[in-house]
Amino acid sequence: MASITLSNIVKRYGDGFPAVNDVSIDIADGEFMILVGPSGCGKSTLLRMIVGLEDITSGDMKIGDRRVNDLAPRDRNLAMVFQNYALYPHLTVYENIAFPLRLAKKPDDEVDRLVRDAAGTLELTEHLDRKPGNLSGGQRQRVAMGRAIVRQADAFLFDEPLSNLDAKLRGQMRTEIARLQKRLGITTVYVTHDQTEAMTLGTRVAVLKKGLLQQLATPRELYENPGNLFVAGFIGSPPMNFLPAEVSGNRVKLPFGEVEIPAEKAKAAEGKGLLIAGIRPENFEDASLAAGKGESNGSSTFRAPVDVVEWLGNETYAYIPFEAPPEVEAQLRQLEQDLDGEAMRTQLVISLDGASRITEGSEAEIWMDASKLHLFDPSTGENLTVDKEHAGTIPQKAVAAAPA
Ligand SMILES: Nc1ncnc2c1ncn2[C@@H]1O[C@H](COP(=O)(O)OP(=O)(O)O)[C@@H](O)[C@H]1O
Ligand SMILES: [Mg+2]
Repeated sequence: MASITLSNIVKRYGDGFPAVNDVSIDIADGEFMILVGPSGCGKSTLLRMIVGLEDITSGDMKIGDRRVNDLAPRDRNLAMVFQNYALYPHLTVYENIAFPLRLAKKPDDEVDRLVRDAAGTLELTEHLDRKPGNLSGGQRQRVAMGRAIVRQADAFLFDEPLSNLDAKLRGQMRTEIARLQKRLGITTVYVTHDQTEAMTLGTRVAVLKKGLLQQLATPRELYENPGNLFVAGFIGSPPMNFLPAEVSGNRVKLPFGEVEIPAEKAKAAEGKGLLIAGIRPENFEDASLAAGKGESNGSSTFRAPVDVVEWLGNETYAYIPFEAPPEVEAQLRQLEQDLDGEAMRTQLVISLDGASRITEGSEAEIWMDASKLHLFDPSTGENLTVDKEHAGTIPQKAVAAAPA
């Protein structure tokens, strides 16, 4: 096992376009690191540079203490774990797992020991004589991992391994991979465009946009303290709401009325003019049911017209349309494009208790926890109110060079 350290990694393809632009990520020994971002942001390119399938234009790639920029893939001792269809259908589970050892011409007794060890860890012992076609999706994934385990690789690399599966199987496999990674304790780098996979699997998550690292942090840090509009909009489902906002003193003017925010947040946004406020759906409640939420320092209520209500039993989504000035509209449209078409309509989506009796077409009294409000600079996308102590790493370039 080993740590993997990326320092100022740049990749320019033939056309000179930086597909990966000065990315630094430190992956600890045994860590489960996620690379996430919309299609085309450079995730696969990064992974292929780690494993050695793609040249590195500049920067240093280290595995443990060894600089590997110029090492061939086979000398890096990493294992790409391919999707289940990369198994050989005519070979047994045993021979599928043994495959890399046969290639390396290992003696039979060593092959047998390693295959049986791996099969034991992966709970595949009773399936060793079966063919992959007779296995469940989860078992097939384990066979693919078995093949990586017998190689005694220093790290596992996955590139969107679950993207071709249906939602239910994807959920099961996600749990399976998480369990195995914990049990094996092997350094893992996992590429996905799916924010749910990123949130549930990763010890830490590197969020990328157009080749630039946006933020490197734990799932909780990303969720609670996104460094910019892009990360805020990408992480979380349903996504964070974005509203036009003006700050004066400790008060913030939103389309529905004014709320009071903590003084240190207000101070960070002082004198910046028109801003974009971000607040998550669950930071609202039906005011008549909000008593249990306590009087936090951000408790505010407002009245607003609700145009659609979706009751899901355990919770209720309510939709409240609003108007935004052109500057904010333009920024939100750009964000929508950057996020690969996640619809950012100018409507507030709020999540209420399933017991709420709020009805469509009525004006409702809504409670909000304004202490959870973020304020973003509309020109750079920077989160002016981020709690830097709990936000992991936010590279300077993510703010300066890439307005969200
Ligand atoms: N072989 C290549 N030649 C030229 N450009 C490439 C090549 N591979 C990828 N790219 C470009 O690099 C960028 C990042 O691609 P990729 O790493 O595949 O993104 P992701 O895996 O995040 O979807 C994209 O703009 C893509 O078009
Ligand atoms: Mg890719």
